[in-house]
Amino acid sequence: MTDDARRTIGVAVLGMGNVGAEVVRILQQSASDLEARVGAPLEIRGVAVRDLGKARSWCSPSLLTDDAASLVTRDDVDVVVELIGGIDLPRTLIGTALEHGKSVVTANKALLADYTGELATIAARAHVDLYFEAAVAGAIPVIRPLMQSLAGDTVQRVAGIVNGTTNFILSAMAENGDDYASTLAEAGRLGYAEADPTADVEGYDAAAKAAILASIAFHSRVTAGDVYREGISTITTDDHESAATLDCTIKLLSICERIDDSMGRQRVSARVYPALVPNSHPLASVNGAFNAVVVEAENAGRLMFYGQGAGGSPTASAVLGDLVMAARNKVHGGRGPLESTYASLPIAPIGDVNTRYYVSMKVADRPGVLSTVAGEFAKRRVSIATVRQAGAGDDARLIVVTHRAPDSALSETVDALNDLDAVLSVSSVLRLEGTDG
Ligand code: NDP
Ligand code: HSE
Repeated sequence: MTDDARRTIGVAVLGMGNVGAEVVRILQQSASDLEARVGAPLEIRGVAVRDLGKARSWCSPSLLTDDAASLVTRDDVDVVVELIGGIDLPRTLIGTALEHGKSVVTANKALLADYTGELATIAARAHVDLYFEAAVAGAIPVIRPLMQSLAGDTVQRVAGIVNGTTNFILSAMAENGDDYASTLAEAGRLGYAEADPTADVEGYDAAAKAAILASIAFHSRVTAGDVYREGISTITTDDHESAATLDCTIKLLSICERIDDSMGRQRVSARVYPALVPNSHPLASVNGAFNAVVVEAENAGRLMFYGQGAGGSPTASAVLGDLVMAARNKVHGGRGPLESTYASLPIAPIGDVNTRYYVSMKVADRPGVLSTVAGEFAKRRVSIATVRQAGAGDDARLIVVTHRAPDSALSETVDALNDLDAVLSVSSVLRLEGTDG
């Protein structure tokens, strides 16, 4: 290899969909700036796609290949950017690339939520980088601040809105009274929703991101299966109306925090669920496909990160940031941070988490019902903060908001309410976050 050839950083891009197409565009449009920032030109050696027949802008047909496996082992490739999505294929391609001495940049949260350990081990052995800023909250820098800027602090809590599709849907339902199905379709058209929107609306995507955030924040390996998860597909326009009467809005929250067990030992709680958030809370005004993450650290205090959490160019911005870092390390030497799991904190079950509940139930409108209902809360030592009756006769509803109590006591209470004759149905149960009490 000549000196010039060695100083050019060869890039392989795997996938040219919503994000990959933007990465390829920016790599070409900003080539001279990127070269100045890296200290060497970045040259695309190939772009792997599934369908070679599709029309593509910003990409010479000679760069396209449907043989990603060969592309990632080419001698003239230094950095592989994986933007295919899914698990099995990228797991193999990234593992192979790392073993062949290529640094890897990926936005693939589904893969990282379960396989960061495996891939980081291969990267460490091969002395190359594995970067994944784009995997959580799109354009928002949150992985690097947690991994590097806060490396000397103790993070207590990371909580926020990390799925653009569900935030887009919940915002549109709350603001315009739009129905669930049409806003989901619009989120797909805008490139926010995953190919299979189940991952978004049932909270799997947010849970994968929570696993990644919790692992980094608490120096412990947390996988997707460790994250308690509920989605938004059962949220109705009635729920939004009830939230509004409580001066709240509904958001799908990802919450990762340290909690103590009864012996004072620290554990990690990672959970994703739709929750009522008071309109005065900073997360309540995060609307559309925007994301926000609030980090609480022992010494830094509270930090808030806000921005575009999904979409082609915002996500490509984070990918390019990682690519510049990986390329700089190739040119100048040095390595990005390694995985840190030394604390190995155990996972706390959801039942041990202290939360507040909002319970809306259809009830028989007769004397004594309120005290029967209140009795079920009292039996499980769940203190009621407010009760309101809405409607009358056949339309009577009781809306109860509790004080903080163990989640297990709250869910046992809801089971007991469902068994009461006086309660015709428990129509909605949501947690209330972002308040004292
Ligand atoms: P898309 O579905 O839009 O694009 C996927 C790309 O992968 C397509 O170009 C497709 O080829 C290509 N591909 C699929 N199978 C193969 C294969 N066997 N060999 C080679 N190429 C293949 O996905 P996105 O761009 O939306 O997402 C990419 C990644 O980024 C995912 O991991 C996603 O979770 C993540 N991400 C996405 C965000 C977003 O807002 N969209 C935000 C943050 C992360 P073809 O074009 O021929 O179909
Ligand atoms: N589908 C994801 C979302 C893409 O809606 O947030 C960004 O990770």
